[in-house]
Amino acid sequence: MVHCFRACLPLFAILIVASNLSYTRASMKGGHKIKSATFLSPKFVLGPGSVENRFYRNVDFPKGHIGIKSFNAEVIDDTGNPVPLHETYLHHWLVSRYYQPLDVVETNHEQKFKESDRISARNSGICQKGILNQYFGLGSETRKTATHIPDPYAIEIGNPAEIPVGYEERWLLNVHAIDTRGAEDRLGCTECRCDLYNITVSEWGHPLRPDYKGGLLCCYDHTQCKVKQGFQGTRRSLYLRYTVEWVEWDSDIIPVKIFIFDVTDTGKRLNGSTGLGPENGCQVEYEIKSCSSTDTAVNGCVDVKRTNLTMPTTGYLIYGVAHQHTGGIGSTLYGKDGRVICASLPTYGEGKEAGNEAGYIVGMSTCYPEPGSIQITAGEKLVLESNYSRDQDHTGVMGLFYILVADRTPNPTSLLQAPIHVSLFKFLNGNI
Ligand SMILES: *[C@@H]1O[C@H](CO)[C@@H](O)[C@H](O)[C@H]1NC(C)=O
Ligand SMILES: *[C@@H]1O[C@H](CO)[C@@H](O)[C@H](O)[C@H]1NC(C)=O
Ligand SMILES: *[C@@H]1O[C@H](CO)[C@@H](O)[C@H](O)[C@H]1NC(C)=O
Ligand SMILES: *[C@@H]1O[C@H](CO)[C@@H](O)[C@H](O)[C@H]1NC(C)=O
Repeated sequence: MVHCFRACLPLFAILIVASNLSYTRASMKGGHKIKSATFLSPKFVLGPGSVENRFYRNVDFPKGHIGIKSFNAEVIDDTGNPVPLHETYLHHWLVSRYYQPLDVVETNHEQKFKESDRISARNSGICQKGILNQYFGLGSETRKTATHIPDPYAIEIGNPAEIPVGYEERWLLNVHAIDTRGAEDRLGCTECRCDLYNITVSEWGHPLRPDYKGGLLCCYDHTQCKVKQGFQGTRRSLYLRYTVEWVEWDSDIIPVKIFIFDVTDTGKRLNGSTGLGPENGCQVEYEIKSCSSTDTAVNGCVDVKRTNLTMPTTGYLIYGVAHQHTGGIGSTLYGKDGRVICASLPTYGEGKEAGNEAGYIVGMSTCYPEPGSIQITAGEKLVLESNYSRDQDHTGVMGLFYILVADRTPNPTSLLQAPIHVSLFKFLNGNI
């Protein structure tokens, strides 16, 4: 199905728009004309063991009041060939929305984002300000994870009524890639183990906690992971190639809200605190300790991490997917009565080629429930569960869950009002 998603899309008129790799494809689906464009991120250059973690502002993105239908991406080299994960590990890419005053000129090549006049236009939550506020984002699983949104739903963007006067909607792209060619410990480099990067102080100059063994704080932009002595490899130019599909906005499209849940969320939200920190809720990363022979007998050597979350609004689940790192064996989001809202399982690669790299999570299964069949209500207590194998230690693992929720279905009478019809029927028949 996931394979089919890309391969089976009808290839209609291909129209070259901008750069050599951009095009727009138009097709008809459900009465809405689906448009598609492919863009390249700014170029980044990696040599063996090196890391790029850049924030590109005002990147190419479809404009206007539109509904996003899918977002796919992959890392390619400068001849356009897909680069496998065992060469360039795609730790993650994120695409976030913000508003910027119209007169502020931004180039794609700015590395660090300054707050300035930028107004974040984040997703619907639920982590603290500044954390997991993206609209789209995945990691090594990008190539085989379905992202399409079924009709008549879409992610609404560019609504002039929501953009502050004098501002423009823009998009920030963050690409975090690690070159593991020649690495002494390939998995260790992808898990950002501090000893392999020789890092003891954060990017901002703060000493790391002595028990911090690995994670994002040790593989920031321009850090270097340990490579085998004498290994020769060229520095090469890479790009994130991303394809967006969308439809022009129209009143019969139903908007979906984006929620991102984190299994490390402690629920703490200190007043005004932003970003990562022990006082904040979402920590984003955690560690897995390998099991001893005694724990193996108890729980089969699986780390089961759970957190309680509160759903802020009522709606129907349209799409769901988890994000895990190597070692992950699946994640489930449960509703208040223990019912499964969505379970998402990883696919590991088995070969060498891009999209099927052995030892890496190359895809996550997704949920597309019958719209209307899974309702989550405002204030409902959810449980997020993320399972990892404890066959070995892991640092910097993640347990995120991304869901799309609509506040209605196309034909509300059939579902929402069903109980009313039943009561009316009973009333007419003298049962009430
Ligand atoms: C590791 O970092 C320390 C301090 O920053 C430095 O003195 C040392 O040479 C580094 N070791 C290697 C192998 O690069
Ligand atoms: C939280 O911050 C806001 C604005 O900074 C302030 O008005 C409010 O009183 C604060 N609340 C608490 C509980 O400190
Ligand atoms: C989640 O809630 C349940 C039931 O209220 C409670 O037993 C459990 O300890 C909570 N878990 C966490 C991680 O807070
Ligand atoms: C995670 O582990 C728990 C406890 O063993 C199990 O009930 C659940 O089905 C597992 N979920 C996934 C998705 O593997």
